[in-house]
Amino acid sequence: MQTIFSGIQPSGTITIGNYIGAMTQFVELQNDYNCYFCIVDQHAITVAQDPQTLRKNIRSLAALYLACGIDPNKATLFIQSEVPAHAQAAWMLQCISYIGELERMTQFKDKSAGKEAVSAGLLTYPPLMAADILLYSTNLVPVGEDQKQHLELTRDLAERFNKKYNDILTIPDIKVPKVGARIMSLQEPTKKMSKSDPNQKGFISMLDDPKQIEKKIKSAVTDSEGIVKYDKVNKPGISNLLTIYSIFSNQSIEEIENKYTGKGYGDFKADLANVVVGVLKPIQERYYQLLESEELNSILDAGAAKANQVAGKMVKKMEKAMGLGRKR
Ligand code: TYM
Repeated sequence: MQTIFSGIQPSGTITIGNYIGAMTQFVELQNDYNCYFCIVDQHAITVAQDPQTLRKNIRSLAALYLACGIDPNKATLFIQSEVPAHAQAAWMLQCISYIGELERMTQFKDKSAGKEAVSAGLLTYPPLMAADILLYSTNLVPVGEDQKQHLELTRDLAERFNKKYNDILTIPDIKVPKVGARIMSLQEPTKKMSKSDPNQKGFISMLDDPKQIEKKIKSAVTDSEGIVKYDKVNKPGISNLLTIYSIFSNQSIEEIENKYTGKGYGDFKADLANVVVGVLKPIQERYYQLLESEELNSILDAGAAKANQVAGKMVKKMEKAMGLGRKR
């Protein structure tokens, strides 16, 4: 059976963008692959985090993974910082990364632009991500479109390591969904929807209540034409809403366009809000049951134990290949 690894940062409550681009893929793939899903808390601290909020967000994300349908009997769910091999392998991979290639990463450029104090961690974030993936001999990484460049670097680093030392790392493939790989901000539809957007109206969080969802969709930026039609270039706002509608309702974009022929954005938005609320309601109910439960602790303990076993072995192999420590 082939192996999948993917991760989500606990840097705020996940949005419907994360759900569509990543989580829905995970839930499907867990039936056919040996899956590792990670709460990548060490990635989150590459930008300043309030410790108490981070702790809360880690647990919240774990509960959301399960509430969205990750089954701990099928997939391994764990917290990155509870598996020390990630930081150990990241260091080795940093030492074969070039500063130039890290500085070229779009995410680094975006997050560091105009900032005075940029953490070294923000620059060395991609080798940590490569470590996450390579430790599990991962074949496939399901992610949204924004992670493509990091995945390409992961493949380069694995090839470089194999060539320089020993051929022990599996070269992973990337899997981006056909529809919904890049859900856009509701307020600026040419910008990616992000959980760290300071403008709360730009995203719908998985824990927003029906009123908030309705309000955010109502105020979503569209255009003055008033025709429900997919046209990413000329009508990015309504196209983004159509994508969300299509995924949450399991209907094709064409079917939805036909349904709203001759109707305005008002009707469309009101129905979309109902569709989104309908999908999120049962997820939120399960989430609140799980959040404070002992069951959640047991699942994360078991996940960390399994991940430590697998990743611990690979980190030893990497150290041996690089000549670290003593011969045993
Ligand atoms: P993060 O936490 O930003 O996002 C988690 C996942 O959600 C996807 N995503 C989106 N998909 C569609 N539309 C959007 N607007 C949108 N926003 C986010 C992301 O592509 C991602 O799949 N570096 C990663 C976390 C990570 C990781 C890994 C992923 C760390 N190690 C190893 C895969 C494998 C990140 O910051 O994702």
